Amino acid sequence: MKRQRIRYADWSAAEYGAALRCLLGGRVARGPAPERLAARLAAQYAPSTVYPLNFAHTGLAIALDLFRKRRPARDEVVVPDYICPSVVQTVEAAGLRAVPAAIGPDLNLSVDGVRAVLGERTLAVVAPHMFGSPAPIAAIETLCRAAGVFLVDDAAQVVGEAAGGRLLGTFGDVGLISFAQSKAVVTGVAGSGGVLLVNDPELDDEARAAWEQLPAPRGRLRALLDFLWNYQWQGWTGNSGYYFRRIGERLGWQRVAPQPARIANLDAAIALAQLARLPRLRSGRIACAEAYHAALPAGYGIGFPQYAPGRYLSRVMLSLPPATDLDALRERLARAGVETRLGYQTRVCAERPDDAATAAARRLLGLPFSAGLDERAIRDICNLLINTLKSVPTVPSLPIQDNETSHSAL
Ligand SMILES: Cc1ncc(COP(=O)(O)O)c(C=O)c1O
Repeated sequence: MKRQRIRYADWSAAEYGAALRCLLGGRVARGPAPERLAARLAAQYAPSTVYPLNFAHTGLAIALDLFRKRRPARDEVVVPDYICPSVVQTVEAAGLRAVPAAIGPDLNLSVDGVRAVLGERTLAVVAPHMFGSPAPIAAIETLCRAAGVFLVDDAAQVVGEAAGGRLLGTFGDVGLISFAQSKAVVTGVAGSGGVLLVNDPELDDEARAAWEQLPAPRGRLRALLDFLWNYQWQGWTGNSGYYFRRIGERLGWQRVAPQPARIANLDAAIALAQLARLPRLRSGRIACAEAYHAALPAGYGIGFPQYAPGRYLSRVMLSLPPATDLDALRERLARAGVETRLGYQTRVCAERPDDAATAAARRLLGLPFSAGLDERAIRDICNLLINTLKSVPTVPSLPIQDNETSHSAL
């Protein structure tokens, strides 16, 4: 069977062309694209205001700071049991405590889960739409308003998706969008872009002031090369990036973690190219998710917890039967040519190992997913998955892996 890789971005000549124009024009960090991007998104998300940044979590840090100034006695932030680790890290870096709340079968915060942990010290709730599947955000918004708690509508993984006629990202006080790998719009990795949407006009002056103080990002050319070499072209470059990194470490080259910044001109230009193609990518991804759903036979204990007909998803994440030896399964699939990835293995998740939904979250397997993946390839992948599943050993329970930044979970 043809090798099927995990795709981290659906790029065409338009995205490569946009990047090349920035490089040839010497406009990597600064240029006109961020303003054009802000105007493009402001037209879509109005009346929310739009602040393009280097990460979604840069926007979260700004928002938490604004919230804290208004309610200094509160120091807890509710996050789902199942969440991207950078959200928890940002909460903790702000000197706040991340309080895990139960998720539903779709891996999203449940309304009851939020209600159960709201208290006098709750400053804010962060409600993501996991892998694109909408959380019960309207009900969470009502709950937060009644409790006097700020709400972050974490739409990191979607652009332009709506629930009940309202765009995801525009609920609550602020919203987030990310342009990192495996999102709706992908410009690269490690600081390639994000957006803070300010939905509450009363927060806007201070949010703008915080944004204006941010510098232009550094190191974006190197980050682009990293993305191309280690993600986009990995089918050809293999593991050479790993060896280059090891050599760099031996030579004493330090990797500097990206600091909070605005979006780079390079990344904004790529985002504009992606946004122009988004309607086509969106329909291709919906068709891909539907083809997976159709190709997975019942009776093998495989779940597709976020699927709904016609729903946009940013990834296909399947829930495997309890006690499946995921490592053995992944290894056999890889040998047969199908690359897979794990779900997030977060510390918050690890704190509540008995929770049924959390346990399901730790049995997730991500399969190749992209707008152009055809039905036949999807059927082949599903057949291989089922045949392989029959032959893998079972394990008593999955170990908690400390792979928060591991490539395979991204
Ligand atoms: C739900 C969710 N929120 C926030 C983030 C953080 O995005 P960024 O890496 O742009 O800060 C991610 C990233 O994976 C995410 O999936």
